[in-house]
Amino acid sequence: MQRPTLIPLLALAGALSAPAWAQSDPMKQAQGLFKPLPTQPPAVPGNPASPAKVALGKMLYFDPRLSESHAISCNSCHMVGMGGVDLQETSLGHRWQRGGRNAPTVYNAVFDVAQFWDGRAKDLEQQAGGPLVNPIEMDATEKHVVEQLKGIPGYAPLFAKAFPGGEAITFENVRRAIALFEATLITPNAPFDRYLRGDARALDARQAQGLALFIGKGCAGCHNGINVGGGQYAPFGVVERPGAEILPPGDKGRFAVTRTVSDEYVFRVPSLRNVALTPPYFHSGKVWDLRQAVAVMGNSQLGAKLTDAEVDQITAFLGSLTGNQPQVTLPILPPSVATTPQPKP
Ligand code: HEC
Ligand code: HEC
Repeated sequence: MQRPTLIPLLALAGALSAPAWAQSDPMKQAQGLFKPLPTQPPAVPGNPASPAKVALGKMLYFDPRLSESHAISCNSCHMVGMGGVDLQETSLGHRWQRGGRNAPTVYNAVFDVAQFWDGRAKDLEQQAGGPLVNPIEMDATEKHVVEQLKGIPGYAPLFAKAFPGGEAITFENVRRAIALFEATLITPNAPFDRYLRGDARALDARQAQGLALFIGKGCAGCHNGINVGGGQYAPFGVVERPGAEILPPGDKGRFAVTRTVSDEYVFRVPSLRNVALTPPYFHSGKVWDLRQAVAVMGNSQLGAKLTDAEVDQITAFLGSLTGNQPQVTLPILPPSVATTPQPKP
């Protein structure tokens, strides 16, 4: 198991001790720490894109018949048109069951170092298999997903076109197609992206002050790179562990993956892109107000008691991370026929 990278504050220190000219130029400093999102979906290694595959992935993403109840699709918890989330503390899944963690957005997830709050899936392809067979999410089995899709005749030609040659309707191909569709869910051209590309006026005065604080106070030590986060792991509570009402003691995060004591309460640093659209916050989903989340971070991660004005400025900066939301046309799904496996309640 790969060891998590703990808080590369050193990297930040490096950026801060950059040549004097860089420090005096906030834009150059930001350009050294963050990267703008591309305007086109990135290539997914080992999963070559084709229009047929992306179109199929989109259908599967929206098709509730992949769940045992035929009532839940990926989109039920990661709603396209609503920031890629469900706006729930923790998600409602099969038979009205609640999961243990807040659903992160699927937008820009392709740029993260690993998937899930604890990084237990290495990429989108591996991730996509999880919820389908999770008893409190979609509650299917790998075998049932394949049977179900084979029982909907319209899918056969779509799979054959997306995966030419050989057996096309397989669980692996389901994961691949979905992952490729998810890679198209990116949100380019946020004000902050325009700023990083050289437009100093893309941020208003408060956002610019917020950016300076975000870097100066040390937030960017963890939330950096293309996704302003998503690139490393860190404990929730580096300086001061938040109370049980925000960090319930039962969920030890990455410890469950690595079984290493130093990984207790370690989580993947979340991306902050579109964060203004995705309350509630933290893996527990316990904080609904972004300003409160910022203040909690100041205390827990940096031991910094931020003033109300500082919290407001940082929150304003986080608002500049909202990009163009993906425009997704709802797919028309192939119809069920008399022999299609029926939903189980
Ligand atoms: C019942 C709600 C639910 C359904 C249905 C669901 N998800 Fe999720 N999803 C979650 C939750 C909750 C998490 C976080 C779980 C964790 O970290 O342990 C998550 C995590 C993810 C992540 C990781 C994002 C990140 O930042 O780490 C991706 C990607 C994702 N889901 C895609 C999908 C896809 C694709 C489907 C359909 C095959 C799907 N989800 C179905 C609730 C759901
Ligand atoms: C030591 C690394 C580290 C530092 C420094 C840090 N964060 Fe975080 N941040 C995290 C981790 C880890 C989480 C996830 C915590 C959890 O839910 O388990 C997180 C979560 C967040 C969230 C919630 C995101 C969501 O989608 O739920 C926000 C907002 C946030 N951080 C903002 C900030 C701000 C603002 C600062 C500076 C005041 C900051 N962070 C400093 C590691 C860090």
